[in-house]
Amino acid sequence: MSEMLKKAREYERRSEGRIPQEERPVFHFSVPVGWMNDPNGFSDFLGEHHLFFQYYPYQTAWNSMHWGHASSEDFVKWNYLPAALAPDEAYDGAGVFSGSAMEEEGRQILIYTGVEETVSERGDKQIRQNQCIAVGDGRDYVKSAVNPVISSRLLPEGSSKEDFRDPKIWKEDGKYYVVAGNRSQDGSGQIVLFYSDDLENWKFGSVLDRSENRLGRMWECPDFFLLGDKRVLLISPQEMRADGMFHNGNNTAFLTGDYDKDTMRFVRQGVQCVDYGLDFYAPQTMQTQDGRRIMIAWMQSWDNPVYPQEHLWSGMMTVPRELTLKDGCVLQTPVRELEKYRRHEVSYQNVTVGKETALEQVRGRSIDLELTVRGIERGKFRIRLASDGALYSEIIYDAEERVLTFDRTHSGLTRDVLCSRSMKLEGGKEELRLRILLDRYSVEIFADGGKNVMTSLIYTPQTAQNIIFSCGETVDMDVRKFDIETEE
Ligand code: FRU
Repeated sequence: MSEMLKKAREYERRSEGRIPQEERPVFHFSVPVGWMNDPNGFSDFLGEHHLFFQYYPYQTAWNSMHWGHASSEDFVKWNYLPAALAPDEAYDGAGVFSGSAMEEEGRQILIYTGVEETVSERGDKQIRQNQCIAVGDGRDYVKSAVNPVISSRLLPEGSSKEDFRDPKIWKEDGKYYVVAGNRSQDGSGQIVLFYSDDLENWKFGSVLDRSENRLGRMWECPDFFLLGDKRVLLISPQEMRADGMFHNGNNTAFLTGDYDKDTMRFVRQGVQCVDYGLDFYAPQTMQTQDGRRIMIAWMQSWDNPVYPQEHLWSGMMTVPRELTLKDGCVLQTPVRELEKYRRHEVSYQNVTVGKETALEQVRGRSIDLELTVRGIERGKFRIRLASDGALYSEIIYDAEERVLTFDRTHSGLTRDVLCSRSMKLEGGKEELRLRILLDRYSVEIFADGGKNVMTSLIYTPQTAQNIIFSCGETVDMDVRKFDIETEE
């Protein structure tokens, strides 16, 4: 093991217990110590779920990238494992960037982007991103002697060799495939596909799809999988322009379409925004042994990163979500295993909501809340969460516009310059149905059966526990609420 990886593992050991459990989210994965961004290597190995992540243990800011590691039996409770990879080779010394994992004959295969920086005699710096492999037993990994296995030299003429990253691997019909993010000649994103018979020798297959400067610039963190009878290409485009569906800056999109395996061609038919919230990026999926497609994402944003300066940790993941396809659209539902941790059910039927209404026991900061609101025709229906006097975060449904807004202006963050996001809900119904997962620092809102989803962070003091409903008109509401408790 390299000195660099040893140092990271020792630092992790010394940090154990320094972060009080009460300071961490209750049912969201958080970094052991330091900084975390993208989920990596989300997959099963020897019957357990594994999650790796972009990691810098020594401070709460992005820096020289390592891979952190954890495992879980149920997607809710995670065990930290020692850091898996460090940037300790010439070909990855400028960062072990995002990638994926798969099980193969009892071994765990990791594939990641090695960032190589070289300096010419004249002092010019050159960056190259290539794809590298490491093989291990679920805890310790050995980098391949033939790294990098997918060199940027294999890319089609004119493609960027600097922006070529985030390989996602899978096996299909006895062959290995990898998709990766890249920039084409026009400088905007494209997803490239490679294939191999032995994991070491890779060939360029095709360009699956391109932005052509319409869906942002660089496309990061691709994933490509079958869902129902469609193929989904999941991407994280940078530098998008707001257009009604997407906001300015980094976004995430499901591109749905058909794929012909023989020609390796993908024909895009639909574009869907994965999550409209303030804090959601770089999602990755895996398939469980019972056939479910599960997605997890980094619950923070590059464009407006918010986290308390006094914490020794920065970085959480969303709740893993089950994906299904309905009428050509991808639906997201919190992983069913979360229901095991539901406690103290409270339910109300036909509550009349007009002016501010609080319901006994419908409060808390680690809850799973289901709402059905009927008879909203005009005006605004509001839910104040994590509220305590002047502190609150608000979900506002504008019935006429059919727009749902999340607004954390009053959540208590003074460094937060961007506080609100909106999404259009489906038309034609008088009923609003929401599922809201509220944890100590986050709010995930699932609307329209999981077709429209919004994830945002809140760092409101934990004493703010109240929930207040109100509406300009009088409406009728059903509520079901559970506490989520993960400690015995
Ligand atoms: C996405 C990303 C990836 C890259 C990683 C670096 O958030 O920029 O493209 O591999 O983060 O940490």
